Amino acid sequence: METINIIDAPKHVGETVRIGVWLTDKRSSGKIAFLQLRDGTAFFQGILLKNKVSEEIFEMARHDLRQEASFWVTGEIHEDERSKFGYEIQIADIELIGDSNDYPIGNKEHGVDFLMDHRHLWLRSSKPQAMMKIRDRVIRATYEFFGKEGFTKIDPPILTGNAPEGTTNLFHTEYFEQDAYLSQSGQLYEEAGALALNKVYSFGPVFRAEKSKTRRHLIEFWMIEPEMAFMTQEESLEVQERYVAYLVQSVLDDCKRELETLGRDPESLVPFTKLPYPRISYDKAIEMLQAADFDIEWGADFGSPEETYLAGEFNQPVFILNYPKAIKPFYMKNHPTRDDVYVCADLLAPEGYGEIIGGSERETDYETLLQAVKDAGLDPKVYEWYLDLRKYGTVPHSGFGLGLERFLTWITKTDHVRETIPFPRLLNRLYP
Ligand code: 4AD
Ligand code: MG
Repeated sequence: METINIIDAPKHVGETVRIGVWLTDKRSSGKIAFLQLRDGTAFFQGILLKNKVSEEIFEMARHDLRQEASFWVTGEIHEDERSKFGYEIQIADIELIGDSNDYPIGNKEHGVDFLMDHRHLWLRSSKPQAMMKIRDRVIRATYEFFGKEGFTKIDPPILTGNAPEGTTNLFHTEYFEQDAYLSQSGQLYEEAGALALNKVYSFGPVFRAEKSKTRRHLIEFWMIEPEMAFMTQEESLEVQERYVAYLVQSVLDDCKRELETLGRDPESLVPFTKLPYPRISYDKAIEMLQAADFDIEWGADFGSPEETYLAGEFNQPVFILNYPKAIKPFYMKNHPTRDDVYVCADLLAPEGYGEIIGGSERETDYETLLQAVKDAGLDPKVYEWYLDLRKYGTVPHSGFGLGLERFLTWITKTDHVRETIPFPRLLNRLYP
């Protein structure tokens, strides 16, 4: 007898198989019991007929098996047109593995804090499972995309002395006798990588001690950071939109059921596979906002209402180009004809999900960059190696960072970024 997973049940109709499962729910009458089962690959129903199994098994199923008990079921796979999954198992035998009593998550409504306190168990529910499957698909699609496009993955360090994204949200730690931080971004190392290997990317956890408690901010999140030598910002935007469209298409191809479980109509994602995405300047964005009666002046950064309005005008992800220098990091390339903006862009997701990508061309001139380091209040000694890149064969290069969890929040139409990562780190959450 073969041991299988629920997801493979369609290939075993009429066969007797064995499956390791947990119980999610059950109901029974005097003659029949329905067990709702899961094994992490899918959910389906097991049926026990009183006159087909031993008295002992039938009574155990009715009375002793409780939510999240684990056991082996043996039985025959049948088609079941009434269920969403389309198959069920007619159980002949049950072998209990692990008992479960008073499982804290029931069918009733629980508050998010309660569920987050029980995240280690909540992951067993259908929505978190669907989210983790989509997350996994996006991670694989990332490796596929950059592999196909000729990129080499370069892993930057996580313990570092530099602060590319500003000094206000650093996680400080001790590195023997030195000060160190948890990495906010691998970018500076990717720049070194690009000058060694041409097209590179990183994909790893980054850390920001964000004191803000918003629906979009995690303390620890995962970022994909490509960096490309001999590439202008305009060409980088083309890579960015191709990448985002590829991710959306991969999820559409392989995760329809998961999208539906999370309340995202797959059809509504189809427009986001169409390229190009619109591009507008920061200047134009300010004009649009002012025309719509937002109280905003040139030079200000966008908050969530501004980003929601702008993206809402396009029904597509939209690139906002050339932000004021004062609100962007020091490494960005100075504009060739203006001294108030950088050559950079953010990609805003539609439907109110805000910024999913930040990127720019990088400053290539040694003296200009050294001055920018000093103006940012950073210690040039710490950035000596980074400045070296401008001393030995500097070339135009561009790159960007996509926040995995921001992207997932958008494509799964989820309210809060905390649901897109297995164990979120938030301002007030280090548990579990
Ligand atoms: O715009 P950011 O800060 O850009 C960088 O870190 C650059 N070094 C990237 C690069 O050019 N290589 O962050 C990039 C993206 C944002 O667009 C957003 O999607 C995500 O990272 N992000 C966050 N996601 C979750 N929680 C947070 N606190 C985030 N901060 C940024
Ligand atoms: Mg940004």
